[in-house]
Amino acid sequence: AGVFTYDPGFTSTAACKSTITFIDGDKGELLHRGYPIDQLASKSHYLEVCYLLLYGDLPTAKQLEDFESRVTNHTMLHEQMQYFFRGFRRDAHPMAIMVGVVGAMSAFYHDSTDITDPWQREVASIRLIAKMPTIAAWAYKYHVGQPFVYPRNDLDYASNFLRMCFAVPAEEYVVDPILSRAMDRIFTLHADHEQNASTSTVRLASSSGANPFACIAAGIACLWGPAHGGANQACLEMLKEIGTVDKIPEFIARAKDKNDPFRLMGFGHRVYKNFDPRATVMKQSADEVLDLMGIEDNPVLQVAKELEKQALEDPYFHDKKLFPNVDFYSGIILEAMGFPTSMFTPIFALSRTVGWISQWKEQLSDPEMKIGRPRQLYVGETLRDYVDIENR
Ligand code: CMC
Repeated sequence: AGVFTYDPGFTSTAACKSTITFIDGDKGELLHRGYPIDQLASKSHYLEVCYLLLYGDLPTAKQLEDFESRVTNHTMLHEQMQYFFRGFRRDAHPMAIMVGVVGAMSAFYHDSTDITDPWQREVASIRLIAKMPTIAAWAYKYHVGQPFVYPRNDLDYASNFLRMCFAVPAEEYVVDPILSRAMDRIFTLHADHEQNASTSTVRLASSSGANPFACIAAGIACLWGPAHGGANQACLEMLKEIGTVDKIPEFIARAKDKNDPFRLMGFGHRVYKNFDPRATVMKQSADEVLDLMGIEDNPVLQVAKELEKQALEDPYFHDKKLFPNVDFYSGIILEAMGFPTSMFTPIFALSRTVGWISQWKEQLSDPEMKIGRPRQLYVGETLRDYVDIENR
């Protein structure tokens, strides 16, 4: 038996070296390949950030055009994959459908499963980025009982996704540029976040040499939990439970009560103890979308605005450095756009796919890569003899 460092939750253990994303939680700094997230969110757009994360540098105009055209070439799903969706119950959570369908891609795309071949890795990466919006949108369409909408490659990534979610055969669907921009920002702000639980899951799965689609399915499964990507759904459900502005103090009091397990969802972060730089940009987007859509008729959005104000003024949240995180504002935007709460985490999964894939590629080309195998501190029984059943 060896002596191991005990680090529950890996709060102080670096499991890899990475050149992709840098976070300084105290300063509220998030850099992708050196570029600050606020500059990327305001000046760039999702597919350009995908290129940056995957290949390490911002693309030239020609490189971006080539990359976008490769992605748009792969937006369709194999027609047989429809039957996967149709095999689920209508009330299946879209995250459950995504875990299943993305895992099943390993059975459809055999030319991207030899992970020792750089070309195959490349094809798997492009396929995942291209198909994830279609998968997420179809999970939604199936859930609401509407016909699947095929991708339109003349639209940008975000507009195409909105159309696949909201278009119906009976009407022409025109994407509002403000909504499309807000959607693209949600994608961009969620694109990568270094070694969070789902990314670590993808790396651990891939360390055994597993199929890329299976690794990403594992990441989606991990993201689903309410302490991680599921927080945006949990946050909106909490706002609905609060219901009206006059109930807010009661819920704030519960969040502060040590004997009550209730927490304000969408507040606090493991790494950002000052502010979440993604939340700052997301708040601007939320304000724009709320101006466009109006909150007069939406009590959930009214509760959100007032809760943000009251929590920020409360010394408990201030002293514990609990600020609204990215999921608080993304949830508000998605609610205003008309997405049901069950779609919030699938949208996070879609956005984070590029981060997972970039980290997967980085790990596979790391000469120091080993299979992940954490150790434990054994605290159970010491050696004892088996007792026959009649003597117990
Ligand atoms: N509401 C009320 N109190 C809270 C909250 C909250 N949302 N978050 C933390 N606290 C308190 C907690 O009770 C503890 O108090 P004390 O020191 O008196 O015991 C203190 O703040 C520190 O909390 P912690 O759980 O030790 O901190 P952590 O770094 O382990 O947890 C967290 C981070 C995000 C899991 C937690 O803040 C939380 O549960 N937030 C709500 C869920 C949420 O919004 N998650 C999304 C995270 S951002 C997106 C993503 O990365 O997936």
